[in-house]
Amino acid sequence: MNENDHDAARVALVSGGSRGIGAAVTTALTQRGCRVGCTYRTRREDAEKLAADAPEQVLPIRFDLHDDTTALTAVERVVSHWGHLDSLVLNAGQWSGGRLVETDPDAWWSVIETNLRGTVALARAALPHLVHGTSPSIVLVSSVVGLIGHAGDTAYAGAKSAMIGFGRSLAKEVARDGIRVNVLAPGFVTTDMTDAVPVSARRRIERETVLGRFGTVEEIAKAAVFLSEDATFCTGSVLTVDGGWAL
Ligand SMILES: NC(=O)c1ccc[n+]([C@@H]2O[C@H](COP(=O)([O-])OP(=O)(O)OC[C@H]3O[C@@H](n4cnc5c(N)ncnc54)[C@H](OP(=O)(O)O)[C@@H]3O)[C@@H](O)[C@H]2O)c1
Repeated sequence: MNENDHDAARVALVSGGSRGIGAAVTTALTQRGCRVGCTYRTRREDAEKLAADAPEQVLPIRFDLHDDTTALTAVERVVSHWGHLDSLVLNAGQWSGGRLVETDPDAWWSVIETNLRGTVALARAALPHLVHGTSPSIVLVSSVVGLIGHAGDTAYAGAKSAMIGFGRSLAKEVARDGIRVNVLAPGFVTTDMTDAVPVSARRRIERETVLGRFGTVEEIAKAAVFLSEDATFCTGSVLTVDGGWAL
C-alpha cells in the first residue's frame, strides 16, 4: 500500500463493531480495503483484536449509546485519523424484552433511549463530514421485529421501528447532499444477543423461519456492505435479511 492508496481508501465508522454483527461488518469492510473506526463500549480487547488482524485499517474507539459526547469524539477521531468519512454503519444496540404490562415504565423507556439516543447522536455528528465524503452513506441496523412486531418486544421493536422512520425521513433530508440512508432489518442471527433466547423459543423461531435456521453474522455483514458501498441507487430502502421469518 502506498501513500496514495491510503488517501483514496474509503473510511467507515461502525458502531458496536467490537463483536457480533458489527465485528463481521468491520471485517467485511476491511476486506474491501476500507479503513474502519470500530466502536466498543465494554469489549475494548475485542476491538483491538480486529485492529491487530487488519493493521492500519481498524481504529478502535470507545462509544457509549448513552453519552452524546462519545458520538462526537468517535466521529472526530476517525476524521482526524484518516482525514475524511464516507460511510456510517449504525449497528450498536441492546435487546431487552418483556411483556408491556410486566415491564416497569422506566425500564421500558430505557430500552428506547439506549437504542435510539446514541444512534441519532452519531448520525448528527457524522453528517457534516459525510457531505464531503465519496459516495457517502448511512446504514441503520434495525430489526425485522421493527417491521412486523414480536410479542414481548414492544420497547425493542418500538425502537427498531423508530429507526426505520428516522432513516427514511433522513434519506429525504440529505439526498440533496448526495448521502444515501438505508435500513437493514435482520431476522434472528446467532450472536451473544440471541444467546439469551431460551432453547424452546429458539426452536420455535427456527420453525417459523422459512430457511429453518438462524442467520450468521457474515450473512448480515454482506447485506450491510451492499447497502453501504454498492447500492448507489438505493436510499430510504429497508432490506430484510431474515431467512424468510417475516413471510
Ligand atoms: N442478533 C440478532 O438476532 C439481531 C437481529 C436483528 C437486529 N439485530 C441488531 O443488530 C445489532 C447488533 O446486534 P448483535 O446481535 O451483533 O449484538 P451483540 O453481539 O450483543 O453486540 C452488540 C454490540 O453493540 C455494542 N453495544 C451494546 N450496548 C452498547 C451501548 N450502550 N453503547 C455502545 N455500544 C453498545 C457492544 O459493544 P461492547 O461489546 O464493546 O460492549 C457490541 O459491539 C443491534 O442493533 C441489534 O439490535 C440483531
